[in-house]
Amino acid sequence: MELGKDIKCVLFDVEAIAARVKELGREISRDFKGEQVVMICILNGACPFFTDLIRAIDLDVRIDFITASSYGNATESSGIVQISRDLRTNIEGKNVIVVEDIIDTGITLCFLSKLLSARNPKSISICTLLNKEARREKVVNVQYSGFPIADEFVVGYGLDYNEKYRNLPYVGVLKEEKYL
Ligand code: IMP
Ligand code: MG
Repeated sequence: MELGKDIKCVLFDVEAIAARVKELGREISRDFKGEQVVMICILNGACPFFTDLIRAIDLDVRIDFITASSYGNATESSGIVQISRDLRTNIEGKNVIVVEDIIDTGITLCFLSKLLSARNPKSISICTLLNKEARREKVVNVQYSGFPIADEFVVGYGLDYNEKYRNLPYVGVLKEEKYL
């Protein structure tokens, strides 16, 4: 396999991800029963997770996209968050669920939650596929979390290293020699 040869080990395979996404979808459907939710995809990383998750939710779901980056092109956060594509939706009075691929230092989501809260949504929740709690610098209130992970650099299912590996169908640890 062309991309797979750069992967040291698979952490979450296609089946494990699909099963967890279904559970998260059920949880969200139960928590917001009878209500409309606006699901916000943080581009680019959350894209595969987002498209699977929205189809696992049985509610009146509206979708929108935002592009935020706190990373340069490396494996460490720059600490600066930039919005290069904002929402097209007015979220005032709406139940907003922000969907992210991974929470690492928390800088991106801390910034985004403040930005979106200032627009007066009815509620704001955070749903992340992966949670690297050991690296947290900013407090982030996470309502829905797919899998906790250790402090390792992972790629696949949306997650990249220098924009590569996003299309791997699973999440795996990148071989050290690929980023040293
Ligand atoms: P934070 O602002 O430090 O929480 O970083 C969040 C962003 O960092 C994510 O949206 C990812 O783009 C990126 N990131 C953090 N850890 C990893 C990783 O292990 N693999 C790939 N991207 C990562
Ligand atoms: Mg990202």
